[in-house]
Amino acid sequence: MNRHALAAAILVATSTAAFAQSNWLTVGETVLVQLRQDGHRLTVRGNRAVLPGAQSVSEHIYLLEVPARELPKIAGTLHRKLRHCGGFMHHASEAEARRALEGLSAPQQLTRPSYVIANQATVTPMLAQMEEAHIAQTIIRLSSFVNRYYTSVHGIEASNWLRGTWQQLAANHPGISVVQFRHASYGQQSVIATITGSDKAAQVIVLGAHLDSINITSGRANAVAPGADDDASGIAGLTEVLRVLASSNYRPRRTIKLIGYAAEEVGLRGSQDIARNFRSNKVDVVGVLQLDMTNFQGSGKDIYLISDYTDAGQNQFLSKLVDTYLPTLTVGVDRCGYACSDHAAWHAEGFATSMPFEASLGQGNPAIHTKHDTYANSRGQAAHALKFSRMAAAFAMELGSERD
Ligand code: BES
Ligand code: ZN
Repeated sequence: MNRHALAAAILVATSTAAFAQSNWLTVGETVLVQLRQDGHRLTVRGNRAVLPGAQSVSEHIYLLEVPARELPKIAGTLHRKLRHCGGFMHHASEAEARRALEGLSAPQQLTRPSYVIANQATVTPMLAQMEEAHIAQTIIRLSSFVNRYYTSVHGIEASNWLRGTWQQLAANHPGISVVQFRHASYGQQSVIATITGSDKAAQVIVLGAHLDSINITSGRANAVAPGADDDASGIAGLTEVLRVLASSNYRPRRTIKLIGYAAEEVGLRGSQDIARNFRSNKVDVVGVLQLDMTNFQGSGKDIYLISDYTDAGQNQFLSKLVDTYLPTLTVGVDRCGYACSDHAAWHAEGFATSMPFEASLGQGNPAIHTKHDTYANSRGQAAHALKFSRMAAAFAMELGSERD
């Protein structure tokens, strides 16, 4: 048998599904150990040494096949036993899961930016216009939905509300369009606002946050999940960026996209769908920033840059942006240790991403994924989220207006 035939035979052999209705997950070592300890039904279908971006060489990523009805139980175990120290990526098919497992490393980025800061005259006055009260208002409105779960009617309504809100902000601005992005296997749509660039429109900067929420402690579709910090705070931060850019008639040279992702809480499904779509359409994504949990100040420093599943050069650029535009703020570094939010979906497709976080990892908001993740439990303020929103605005405008 020649090598190709052998490879094909192996592929066929490993493709035989063990369960009638299978789901495909990629997980880290800690998660696999925990799931086995708790006796979950699963089959390990492959593994890969060293996660891209991971700091520790001993880490492995595992491809699991699990029966569909085991999924909610697995999510429950991970929440109870590991709190937030272990996530999973959900994949629609075995082929996609294998691609995620093996094809992670090739950089997709076509344009590498220079990361030179040179637009103070535009950026400084724009940041001064940004206001805590607007961010607070969006957090309060979004957390008033019963939940924003990806299959619930409330989650669908929240997506529609966001589209409407962004459309209103963009009304009278011919350079800005707002659309929903439909996902094949669930009702909640992602929302995308596009500010088209003037002369390098093919080059794209992405600011993202997830619009869904989850209550992992009780039954799903009608469970109360305000998700005020996780992640209404991120969506509110993006909304404030859009408000000031639109009201000042800002026109970038590159295209800026603001994305509210659907279905993050169930395995980064919305962002994976979009990142994969952009990659297959060869979209020249220059940089991606994720805001996920920005309004609970749990540590001594203001902003913690997540170092794994992100781009070191772009993280350094963010630090420089803080020094330049938000010099009173302090920046720390921490790591998630797993694919903890949507930035990891872009990273997996080879794009440069960053994820600034509200606290050091162990000191983030303890109320997330419960009915207690309310605005009041972020001390009824949005001053912390405003810092991240300003950082995102500076990121979008500096990369968006870069000369070369
Ligand atoms: N916002 C969280 C991620 C997070 C939580 C980061 C705590 C840092 C500290 C995110 O929405 C989430 O819950 N992610 C899942 C993983 C995802 C792949 C389902 C998690 O952390 O368990
Ligand atoms: Zn989140």
